[in-house]
Amino acid sequence: MLTLQPASRGLRGEMGVPGDKSISHRAVMLGAIAGGTTHVTGFLNGADCLSTIDCMRRLGVNITLSADETEVTVEGAGLHGLKPENDTAELYTGNSGTTTRILSGILAAQPFASRISGDDSINRRPMKRIMEPLGKMGADIVSEKGDGCAPLFIRPVSELHGGAIKIATASAQVKSALLLAGLYADKPVTVIEPGPSRDHTERMLKAFGSGTITIHQPDGYHVGVFPTDELHAADISVPGDISSAAYFLVAASVIPGSELLIRNVGINPTRSGILEVLRLMGANITEENRRTEGGEPVADLYVRSAALHGTAVSGEIIPTLIDEIPVIAVAASLAHGVTFIKDAAELKVKESDRIKVMSEGLNAMGADVAPTPDGFVINGVDHLHGAAVKTYADHRAAMSFAVAALAADGETTLNDADCVKISYPGFFDDLNGLTA
Ligand code: S3P
Repeated sequence: MLTLQPASRGLRGEMGVPGDKSISHRAVMLGAIAGGTTHVTGFLNGADCLSTIDCMRRLGVNITLSADETEVTVEGAGLHGLKPENDTAELYTGNSGTTTRILSGILAAQPFASRISGDDSINRRPMKRIMEPLGKMGADIVSEKGDGCAPLFIRPVSELHGGAIKIATASAQVKSALLLAGLYADKPVTVIEPGPSRDHTERMLKAFGSGTITIHQPDGYHVGVFPTDELHAADISVPGDISSAAYFLVAASVIPGSELLIRNVGINPTRSGILEVLRLMGANITEENRRTEGGEPVADLYVRSAALHGTAVSGEIIPTLIDEIPVIAVAASLAHGVTFIKDAAELKVKESDRIKVMSEGLNAMGADVAPTPDGFVINGVDHLHGAAVKTYADHRAAMSFAVAALAADGETTLNDADCVKISYPGFFDDLNGLTA
């Protein structure tokens, strides 16, 4: 149980946030199947990315970490060089949906069988979304319990087939699984998504010497990948995670007297919907020192407190801020007027049912949040008050409630606050450093 006090004097100072989770996972996976040695700096040492390292090691890849676990050296095994310890690779992905789904795309193409499983949350999350499209490519993946969830058993097949594959929901995990399986296919694979999802895999494949093509057509976003015999090792510098910066952007916006500089944040347009929405709500956020690092746009974000007002968030912007909706709900709770969040049913199948969990926790703190089947209707209130809030062991819910707690009157307790280690092990230390 963690107790949090209000940050009545606001958040002040300078900070950097840990490395981007999505990019860290991809750097290790692509490094593992590339030829040569990949060096990663700014790696996120959260539990999810460490699960990816553990899985790749179990597939025979030599990976070393610096003492602070932010620098990683991956001795690539090559596209056809993965070797499990036993006949069947036994892989445990912990709480990580990204590891489970993207790695399945690589495993589907291997000449050995794999069993991939995770914690209770992972083993309840939907996996048909990768099983079915990979199945269309000829992959052989079964859900062990027949419920469409992990544990998944992946058997070797003689060949994977290319072609066009339409997916129902914009999902970078599903798209990436298909693109990585596509590297091994008999002809190019084109993934057709209803809207654009984060494009880190496409950008990183380019750095590893492989091509993808993206075209926006009337029926969706087409992303094509070419089969290849080899990827080439790369040096990857991972920018700070905008999903982690989001907690500080909202906290500094809603707590009067705040003034914060967050250095080195990735602002890839497929990830930065939070900036657009907070600005629409009246937030005072500027981007300084814009630059490109490792193929990803990066900036320092300067944020000062501001009076926020309600807004509407729906449609194609949703995938660009899906992980930030819990903390946007906190901002909306303290904004003037109503905020509508729609087209976000995906929130129900994240690490927790985030529509339920955020409504329950924020309402316990005096907010006015009505859950809907695909989002929320949030009436802003003047004050939140401290309460005993349940995180359901969801890292993004826990960090969002911590922001609400800093902005609330009185004391808040969070159960299972340790879950922040999934994506941001030093979160509470960083928060304390800025509110002291
Ligand atoms: C991720 C994609 C998103 C996101 C997740 C990370 C990725 O999930 O919510 O936290 O790294 O590809 P979906 O692919 O399910 O949209």
